Amino acid sequence: MTIGALLLSMMFAGVNAQSLKSPDGKFEMNFQLKGGIPYYNLKYNGNVVVEDSKLGLRLFKDTSIKFASEIAKPEDAKFDLNNGFAKTDEKRDSKNETWQPVLGEKKNYINHYNELAITLNQASTDRNIIVKFRLFNDGLGFRYEFPQQKNLNYFVIREEDSEIDFPTDMKAWWMVADYDSQEYQYQETKISEIPARWGKAYDANASQTLVKNAVQSPLMLKKEGKNPLYINVAEAAVLDYPASHLEVDAQNFKFKTHLTADRQGAKGYIQTASTTPWRTIIVSPKAEEVMDSKMIFNLNEPTKYTNTSYIHPTKYMGVWWEMIIGKSQWAYSTETNVHLDKTDFSKLTPNGKHAANNTKVKEYIDFAAENGFQGLLIEGWNIGWEDWFGHSKEYVFDFITPYPDFDIKMLNEYAHSKGIKLIMHHETSGSATNYERWADKAFKLMNKHGYDAVKTGYVGDIIPRGEHHYSQWTINHYYRIAEKANEYKIMINSHESVRPTGESRTYPNWISAEAARGTEYEAFGGNNPDHQTILPFTRWMGGSMDYTPGIFQTKLDYYFPGDTRFVKTTLAKQLALYVTMYMPLQMAADLPENYKKHMDAFQFIKDVAADWDDTKILSAEPGDYVITARKAKGTENWFVGGITDENKRDYTVDFSFLDKGKKYEATIYEDGKDADYINNPQSYHIYKKQITSKSKINFKMVRSGGFAISIKPVK
Ligand code: NOJ
Ligand code: CA
Repeated sequence: MTIGALLLSMMFAGVNAQSLKSPDGKFEMNFQLKGGIPYYNLKYNGNVVVEDSKLGLRLFKDTSIKFASEIAKPEDAKFDLNNGFAKTDEKRDSKNETWQPVLGEKKNYINHYNELAITLNQASTDRNIIVKFRLFNDGLGFRYEFPQQKNLNYFVIREEDSEIDFPTDMKAWWMVADYDSQEYQYQETKISEIPARWGKAYDANASQTLVKNAVQSPLMLKKEGKNPLYINVAEAAVLDYPASHLEVDAQNFKFKTHLTADRQGAKGYIQTASTTPWRTIIVSPKAEEVMDSKMIFNLNEPTKYTNTSYIHPTKYMGVWWEMIIGKSQWAYSTETNVHLDKTDFSKLTPNGKHAANNTKVKEYIDFAAENGFQGLLIEGWNIGWEDWFGHSKEYVFDFITPYPDFDIKMLNEYAHSKGIKLIMHHETSGSATNYERWADKAFKLMNKHGYDAVKTGYVGDIIPRGEHHYSQWTINHYYRIAEKANEYKIMINSHESVRPTGESRTYPNWISAEAARGTEYEAFGGNNPDHQTILPFTRWMGGSMDYTPGIFQTKLDYYFPGDTRFVKTTLAKQLALYVTMYMPLQMAADLPENYKKHMDAFQFIKDVAADWDDTKILSAEPGDYVITARKAKGTENWFVGGITDENKRDYTVDFSFLDKGKKYEATIYEDGKDADYINNPQSYHIYKKQITSKSKINFKMVRSGGFAISIKPVK
C-alpha cells in the first residue's frame, strides 16, 4: 500500500467511524463497520483501553430446536447477526438524572451518560438490529436491541460473541466459569496465566457445570505500572436472557461472551421486540472508584412497583450456623425416605438434633430481642429435610407444613410480642417447578403469620431437569418469584441463585443474594484471607450479598475437639465486614452463647447500620485490603471498617470526611497486639476517643485482621 492509499483508507475509516464521548470527555468509544462486521473500541484519556473488538450474535436456523443433536448441526453464517451489515441510522441521546435507591450505599445515585444507538441492516436477510452504547464517566455499557420487524420475530441464540480485546496482559482476579455455581475461590494471575491455573482453580460443588477456560463475570483486572488502570468487566440487567461468562483468549488478552446454555444447549429464546443485557466495562486509575461505581445499577430500569414502603433494612440472627457446622440438623427424624403427602411426621423417631424446635427458637428470639435485632431466620422448620438433597426429588418441600416440634403460630406470636419478625426459609433443593406450584400458598402463610422476608435457596441441580442455575428459564423463575413476593409485600434473600446485575433498581424487594462463597464455606473448606477484599470488586458490583459475617468463635474445635476447621479471620475483622460489605440484610451469624462471652465487641454489631446515606471507599486494592466509611441513613453516625488479606498492614484513617467543626465520639475495635487469625483470633482491643474532621488514627491490622469504628456526634 502506498502512503497515499494508506492515508485514504485511514480517512475512509475515520469517516465511517462513529465516536461517542463520556460527559466528562475522558472516555471515547468508537464504532466502526469493517467489511460489514461491527467493531467498537474504547479510549481513556486518549489511551486505548479496549482495542477494536467484534460484536454480534450467532443464531440457530429456526426456533424448533428439540434435541441436543440439533445443536450439533453445522452452523450457517446466513442465520447469524454478525456480518453483512450496513449502517442505516444513528441516534444520539444523553441523560443526567439523580435517583434514590430504596435501599442503598448512598442516598442518591447519579445516572449521567451520553448515548449512541446505531441501526444496522443486514441486506441479505433484510433484518435490522440496533447496537446501543452508553458512555458514563466511569465506563461503557453496550447492548443489542431487536426491534419487531417482518424478518425478525422469533429466534434462538447459538451464542453471543461480544468481544473485549485488551491491548496488554493484566493482573486478573477471577473464578472458574460454571453454569450452576459461583462458590469458588478467587484466583489472582495474569490474563495470560489463566489457562494454566484454570484446572486447579475449583473444588466440588453440589451442582456443577464448568466451562473450560472461561471465567465468571464480574471479572476484575489491573493494568500495573506507573499509571495503573483498574478495569471491571461485567453485565447489567440480565432479564429473560441467560447470564454470561467470559471465554479467555490468553495469547491476545481477549475475552468473549459465553452465555449459559439451557437444557437443550440453546442460549436464549427471543421474541422481538427485545433487548439483551448490557455488557459493562468500568475503568478508573483508582480502585476505589471502580468499587464505588453505580453504573451497573444505572443500566437497569426504574422500578414499576407502586409500593416499596414494606422494603426495609433488617439486622437478623438465625437458627443456622449450628446446622452449618454440624452441631445440629435441619431434619427432625431419623427417617431417610419421606413422602410429604403420605408420611405422618408426628410418628417418626426424632433424631434429637433438630434445631428448629420451640424451646430453642424461643431462646434465640429472647437473645435477638434483647439486643435490638429485627429478624430471626429459622431453617429446618418445615417437613421434608430427611431426604431433601441429591435425589432429584421434585416434590421435596411444601413450604407450609411445620415439623411437629415447631409451633408456627405460637412462635410468631412470641416473636412479635418482643419486636422480632421471624424470617421464613424456602429451600427449594433446586426444584424450581415445585416452588412455583407452592409459592402462593407459601406466601399466604407468611402473610398470615406476619413474616415479611424469606430466604430462598437452590442447592443442587435445577428441576426442570437439565436446566441450569443461570440459564434463561431459571433466571425468569427468580423474577417470577420476586414479582409474586412483591404482590404479598415480601422481601427476598436468595441463595445459590444467579448473581445480581443491578436489578435491585427494578425489583427492590429482591434485597440480597448469596451467589458467591459466603461465610458458610469456612465450615466447608475455607475462604482465603483475601476473599473478602476481592468480593466488593466482583460479586458486589451488581448488588448486595448475604455474606453472613459475625463469627466470634472462629475455631470449630471448640465444638468438636480435634476439628481443624476455622474461620480465617480475627474477631476484629469479622466486625469490619459489616462496613466493608454492603448488606441491607445483615446477619449476626454466630450462636448467642458465643456473643454472650464478648458483649463488648458484640456492641459494634448491635450499633452498626444496614442502610446508608453515604459511602466513602477510603482506600482499597483488590486482593489486599479494603477501608470503607459509611454514614447511617437519616443520622449523623458514621461507621468505618478496614480489612486486610493474609498480610499484616498499617493504615491511618483520615477523618476529614466528617463535618468540619463538629465533635464526635469514636468507639474503636481493633486487633489486639498479640492477635493472629490462626493462633489468637479472639484478641481485640476496644477504646473510645474524641475526634474531629482533623483527626487521624493509625491502625495496625494483623494478618487477616481488621478494625471497626463507630462514630457518633457529641451533643
Ligand atoms: C445453602 C445456603 O447457603 C445455606 O445458607 C443454607 O443453610 C443451606 N443451603 C440449606 O438451605
Ligand atoms: Ca494479597
